[in-house]
Amino acid sequence: MRKKVTVVGSGNVGASCAVRLAGKALADIVVVDILEGIPQGKALDILQAGPVEGVDVQLTGANDYAPTADSDIVVVTAGFPRKPGMSRDDLLWANYDIVKASVEQAVKHSPNCILIVVTNPLDAMCHVAHRISGFPKHRVVGMAGILDTARFRTFVAQALNVSASDVVAFVLGGHGDTMVPLVRYSSVAGIPLADLMDAGTLQQIVTRTRGGGAEIVKYLKSGSAYYAPSAAAVEMVEAILLDRKRVLPCSAYLEGEYGIHNLFVGVPVKLGAQGIEKIFEAKLTEDELAALHKSAAAVKELVDVMAPKLA
Ligand code: LAC
Repeated sequence: MRKKVTVVGSGNVGASCAVRLAGKALADIVVVDILEGIPQGKALDILQAGPVEGVDVQLTGANDYAPTADSDIVVVTAGFPRKPGMSRDDLLWANYDIVKASVEQAVKHSPNCILIVVTNPLDAMCHVAHRISGFPKHRVVGMAGILDTARFRTFVAQALNVSASDVVAFVLGGHGDTMVPLVRYSSVAGIPLADLMDAGTLQQIVTRTRGGGAEIVKYLKSGSAYYAPSAAAVEMVEAILLDRKRVLPCSAYLEGEYGIHNLFVGVPVKLGAQGIEKIFEAKLTEDELAALHKSAAAVKELVDVMAPKLA
């Protein structure tokens, strides 16, 4: 029997996830949204690409969660995107309600699934998903680091005119303005970045990576990025469904790792059939650790604001 993946949200991120998942023929897919007709229409449209692309997975669109029953993975993309001038954190309350309702429903029908959270503000929404689901921490994981590192890798590849595939990057921390691109751990095919470009260029790339999401929001005006975010989410789905044991930067619940307690923050994890199978602790310098803790503090601020509701 094929695996089953539910995508909650049939907007740009959700629909792009469904297209990419279907293209890889990884699983049957259910797209859920409260908007009547949209998930049904988009699922049918994607399904009808199957004969052309030579894939046979089933796609179902629904406004309720019954068809999602026994999903292996639920990807939560539902929520409002930011508008120009907004930070991801400005979405907290609007998306809190959406993520809470989505997760409640999803886990009722798929009590053994792994939750991949994509909705912003990402790390805070992972908290909501973790608390509402009651799932063990290894079954709740947030998508952000893959996107942030993909942006970093893209900019490095452009600057050096090399393949982005050969750029290895490492971004730690929350998915916000305080994220921590770790230059010291980034390389081109093992050659440290500092050997290949001057400090000024490198700093520009770090700054552009931090503002990578906002740069796209500024262009789109009425929404945020979705092609790269969906590619990142699907990489995580694939790592789990195929038990690939990929080492990827994801938002994970930390209980003392990096000196951070009871908080979802982006760190390198091993993703396999069990979800987060390991959290890797890299040795950081004092400055790097301070930057990570600053980023974690920004996540904690949001979590503290939500605490009365989540108690
Ligand atoms: C971004 C949004 C989706 O970084 O968080 O593009």
